[in-house]
Amino acid sequence: MTRAQFQYSKKVLKHFRNPHNLGKINDPSGIGEVGNMVCGDVMKLYIKVKNNIITEIKFETYGCAAAIATSSVITDLVKGKTIDEAIKMTNKDVIDSLDGLPPVKIHCSLLSVDALSEAIYDYLFKEKKEIPKEVVSRHQRLIVHSS
Ligand code: FES
Repeated sequence: MTRAQFQYSKKVLKHFRNPHNLGKINDPSGIGEVGNMVCGDVMKLYIKVKNNIITEIKFETYGCAAAIATSSVITDLVKGKTIDEAIKMTNKDVIDSLDGLPPVKIHCSLLSVDALSEAIYDYLFKEKKEIPKEVVSRHQRLIVHSS
């Protein structure tokens, strides 16, 4: 592998050194907690929802630079969005907004997307709202992998 395959973009380093929306929300509408079984990194994402809009979002991540940067950038991408818009967020959106990730770090971006999906699942479940199929199947996949 070449050195470039391990190099982070300037945006990744910026978010890693100065993460946005770090911390927890007291009394959140939903919490998503996921882990990567291979590396052991974990992420917890908190959302506050008002009138179907994510008004506040914070995260706590114990992981690599890519995990922290992707957590930080997903909070920027999702804040102010509706639940429906947030559900459509993909790890490609996250990677693109960081100007890319080294190939060996692509899997790290999944942590943030999965944590967001789990926070939305938690919110919709608690509110007894209809949960879209893709959110349910992702939730089931994550449960299987963590048990
Ligand atoms: S190495 Fe674990 S999420 Fe990046």
